Amino acid sequence: MSEPNPDLRAMLCGIRLDDPILNASGTFDAIAAKRVFGRRLIDRFPFSAFVSKTITVAPRHGNPPPRLWEASGGLVNSIGLPNKGLDGFLAEDLPQLAALPVPLIVSVMGSSPEEFAELVEGVAPREEVAAIELNVSCPNVHSGLIVGEQPVEAEALLVGLRELTAKPLIVKLTPNLADPAAVGAAAVAGGADALSLINTVKATPIDPETLRPWLGNQSGGLSGPAVMPIALAQVRAVAAAVPSTPIIGMGGIESGLDALMFLAAGADLVAVGTACFRDPLAAERIRQELTKAMRERSIFSISEIPGRTGWALASTEIEGQLEG
Ligand SMILES: Cc1cc2nc3c(=O)[nH]c(=O)nc-3n(C[C@H](O)[C@H](O)[C@H](O)COP(=O)(O)O)c2cc1C
Repeated sequence: MSEPNPDLRAMLCGIRLDDPILNASGTFDAIAAKRVFGRRLIDRFPFSAFVSKTITVAPRHGNPPPRLWEASGGLVNSIGLPNKGLDGFLAEDLPQLAALPVPLIVSVMGSSPEEFAELVEGVAPREEVAAIELNVSCPNVHSGLIVGEQPVEAEALLVGLRELTAKPLIVKLTPNLADPAAVGAAAVAGGADALSLINTVKATPIDPETLRPWLGNQSGGLSGPAVMPIALAQVRAVAAAVPSTPIIGMGGIESGLDALMFLAAGADLVAVGTACFRDPLAAERIRQELTKAMRERSIFSISEIPGRTGWALASTEIEGQLEG
């Protein structure tokens, strides 16, 4: 008799998901995809929950071109969060995203605690919204400090936002600091329900002709397979620091085996980003490959993956001294 298919069902802060594969914010335009693929997209929606592109209070045009650079094994982008702003999002995009067949997570970024509060107060009461992801990779205009790089700022931000909603608050961590686990732990202490990581890794491609920075914004963020080992290290460290907080792991996932590695490193769910640009249905293939990879290892549910509870995290304390 053949083995049963593994059970991929997952939970995110009380939200039931058919499987652990989400999209990474800003890498899948569901509204444009619906225009191109129509009903087929809804019938074969590739993710178990949809995370919106990050929105800000005011509309943004984004950064000057060029905005993309293809690196070996990755992509550097400096898109600069172009979006319609909170009002435009609520009026035009939210009704369309609410028609997707999966729970909706709205990603927001403020340049001050007041802006974050305005965004959360605008989005959280909408019943179409299952959870909010806080993109904390932006400087606080009051202190000049990047919230996601400072445990104190991250905790204070969450304490303020926690009072505003009972909906799940997910904090998206930046990888651009030595100790993301400290920021993750501080965000959880302030009231975050879940953490997602990694955002892009700071990067500056140089134009070989002019020998000047290629991107219109000078620097951008690296994503794709090149960042995966960094992401796995950070997921492990953060998972060890906040053992009972759900973690969405991402950074270079292109295959089911990559996804399994993130789950083994301590993530509870995974997100697919850059891979969606080459193949909008990449997540569907990744789901099939994950099922196969689990079956080959006699793993029959996500909770059986020896991630946080297994040997993988027991050895984190010996890190730091022996590289190179
Ligand atoms: C073109 C592009 C746009 C992105 N836009 C956002 C965004 O709006 N908000 C956000 O939190 N992350 C954004 N990201 C980061 C991704 O969500 C993800 O954290 C990162 O790319 C790592 O995953 P990946 O290697 O699978 O792409 C963007 C990444 C890319 C490549």
